[in-house]
Amino acid sequence: MVTQKATNIRWHQGAIARDDRERLNSHRGFTIWFTGLSGSGKSTLAVALEEALYERGLRTYILDGDNIRHGLNKDLGFSPEDRTENIRRIGEVANLFSDGGIINMTAFISPYRHDRQTARELSMDGSFIEVFVDCPVEVCEQRDPKGAYKKAREGIIKEFTGISAPYESPENPEIHLHTDQETVEACVRRILDYLTRHNFIPA
Ligand code: ADX
Repeated sequence: MVTQKATNIRWHQGAIARDDRERLNSHRGFTIWFTGLSGSGKSTLAVALEEALYERGLRTYILDGDNIRHGLNKDLGFSPEDRTENIRRIGEVANLFSDGGIINMTAFISPYRHDRQTARELSMDGSFIEVFVDCPVEVCEQRDPKGAYKKAREGIIKEFTGISAPYESPENPEIHLHTDQETVEACVRRILDYLTRHNFIPA
């Protein structure tokens, strides 16, 4: 838990509200929160989904683990505490994007249920869609796109999710994908179906 450090600060209300920004964009701002093991397909899906949304004329942004750790979160490693802080910050940033009327996708392992729940609670009701990118660890290890599993097995990378650090599966995600059984296109189609069925985006 991060406590409030600064005192003598006051919330300023702008003249333009989220509703106004959403009206201008002709769609809502919301978060699509991908969670799953390294190599499960989070970034691939976020990129493919963003393309599909962009082609529909919707405003989007991707927050991706590997990228954000080069900048905003470059001071964080992979201890449980650092991962919690990583996800706390991303939850805040995602919420800012939603408030800005942007469809934002986050692609972080986000291994802890409690941290994902905290991110969800920051969001306005109904503007957080958790997508479980489910894939057996054996398949992720076989894919090993960054060679990280190999290094984890050799003990070069410590506390590696799925090998030497835990991953807590979502119990009730809005969308549950099986990337070892469904193609990228099929997964994107399922997400788009969900978004139109629940009036997040126009049909
Ligand atoms: S999270 O657990 O804090 O959500 P995040 O998604 O930001 O992780 O970063 C995961 C990426 O960092 C992985 O795709 C992997 O390439 C790399 N990485 C490096 N060390 C580790 C580690 N110990 N555990 C998991 N991923 C790691």
